[in-house]
Amino acid sequence: MALMKLWVCFTAFCSVVFCASLLWTYKIQSRVFENKRQQQIRYVEYIPSTTSITEMEPVANQASTDGFTVTRTLTSKISGESTNSAIHNTDMDPRGDAVLIVTYVRSGSSLVGELFNQNPDAFYMFEPTHELDRASMKRHLTYTDNSQRTMESTGLPKKEFMTDVVKNLISCDFTKVPVNVLAPESPSHWFFIALGRHIHLRTYASCILKYNTTAEDIQCIPLIKRACDKSFKAFKIVVLRMTDLEPILRQFERVKILYLVRDPRASILSMRKYKLIRPVTLQKCNMTCEIVKRCKEHMIPDLVARDRLQSRFPGRIMTLRYEDLADNPIAYADKIYEFIGREMPANVREWLVNTTSGKIEGDVMSDPYGTSRVNSSQTAHQWERTIQPSLGVEVDSYCGEVIQKLGYESFANIQSRKSQERLRKDGQSNRVQSNAK
Ligand SMILES: *[C@@H]1O[C@H](CO)[C@@H](O)[C@H](O)[C@H]1NC(C)=O
Ligand SMILES: *[C@@H]1O[C@H](CO)[C@@H](O)[C@H](O)[C@H]1NC(C)=O
Ligand SMILES: *[C@@H]1O[C@H](CO)[C@@H](O)[C@H](O)[C@H]1NC(C)=O
Ligand SMILES: *[C@@H]1O[C@H](CO)[C@@H](O)[C@H](O)[C@H]1NC(C)=O
Repeated sequence: MALMKLWVCFTAFCSVVFCASLLWTYKIQSRVFENKRQQQIRYVEYIPSTTSITEMEPVANQASTDGFTVTRTLTSKISGESTNSAIHNTDMDPRGDAVLIVTYVRSGSSLVGELFNQNPDAFYMFEPTHELDRASMKRHLTYTDNSQRTMESTGLPKKEFMTDVVKNLISCDFTKVPVNVLAPESPSHWFFIALGRHIHLRTYASCILKYNTTAEDIQCIPLIKRACDKSFKAFKIVVLRMTDLEPILRQFERVKILYLVRDPRASILSMRKYKLIRPVTLQKCNMTCEIVKRCKEHMIPDLVARDRLQSRFPGRIMTLRYEDLADNPIAYADKIYEFIGREMPANVREWLVNTTSGKIEGDVMSDPYGTSRVNSSQTAHQWERTIQPSLGVEVDSYCGEVIQKLGYESFANIQSRKSQERLRKDGQSNRVQSNAK
């Protein structure tokens, strides 16, 4: 009997402890961060939890026979904005309807990014981690409450710091994003506004252009926050690699990765053309080093990670070869929009036709990041005619595996195909000439 009492006491004690710990986690989860500057923007933080969460009225509670049901208030109740974030029985963050365009320098990402930049319903950011990538770990970064922090002081490696910034951009949690990221290169903001970037952030851009310092730019943040809150998001990212982004796939169930690749021989040639690789070693990395970096250090590990992540997160990674898009823009743009589960707006379709079909003349030379092309298909394959054979062979020697994995032709193949085409053409023109005689 005494044993029985002890057992009842023990179970009661355990339940109390369990309930208390649940309450405690719940409290942490729904911590509300209020901007210290009282900008009337408030944030709710979601921390992935192992408890299933049901969306409910503020003080409602639920009895449950098969365990516990935790109830909590969602963003809508706090910010007064509607919530369309369906919460599933999962421990993932329900926000973050976003696509990350993961790619490399000179790989056609300006064209792909433009598919979202032109979309009036999208919040598109062009290389949001660019500024941090160039910054030293000791640089003072300014936050929206006017506090300053260095990357070093957070104790995180740079890549992890940048991944966290991308996470906070996905959830529009701008109190945790350095203003230097949101309004880079004060006061000119060249990188942010050049060449028609961020066309749907014009109000915000004209605001940050009014001010001369990052501290003053803080006043403009509510404008970018508003644009972010109501849209689906697209980010072009060249600095972070597939493995860096894995935590984002784990945390946000709706985030997708559009993995954009281009023939490394074309990218390398294009980088040299736009002086992103210097012939003289002004930069530490010469041509050979750039080729090795691109293929051995970035593309191969990315491809390995992609295969692994694809099986872990089915349907959330799409690989796109830039050449396929350039050869067949509408068909592949449709595929991209299908992948993200949206309709391509009519103006995006029209813009794409204009840009890729040679209808508009673009000043490609002065615009290394630009998207204006005379005929996208011709431009994408132009390198085959202009690359020096020695460079073609060199890139193949380091990038053979990448070239093969992505289904591109080896340089030897391309050369023999070209020479056969030349022979055929010569044969034809000889025949034409002899017929004319
Ligand atoms: C920014 O600097 C320019 C030139 O020094 C000055 O004319 C302008 O008033 C400044 N703007 C603000 C908002 O302080
Ligand atoms: C590039 O640099 C490496 C050493 O860093 C050197 O061995 C190689 O010859 C250089 N290649 C070219 C093409 O300059
Ligand atoms: C496409 O080109 C036509 C003709 O130049 C122009 O009228 C139209 O505004 C362009 N559309 C877009 C979306 O760029
Ligand atoms: C663009 O160039 C490709 C390859 O030369 C050609 O097949 C295609 O018809 C061209 N497209 C237009 C719109 O001129």
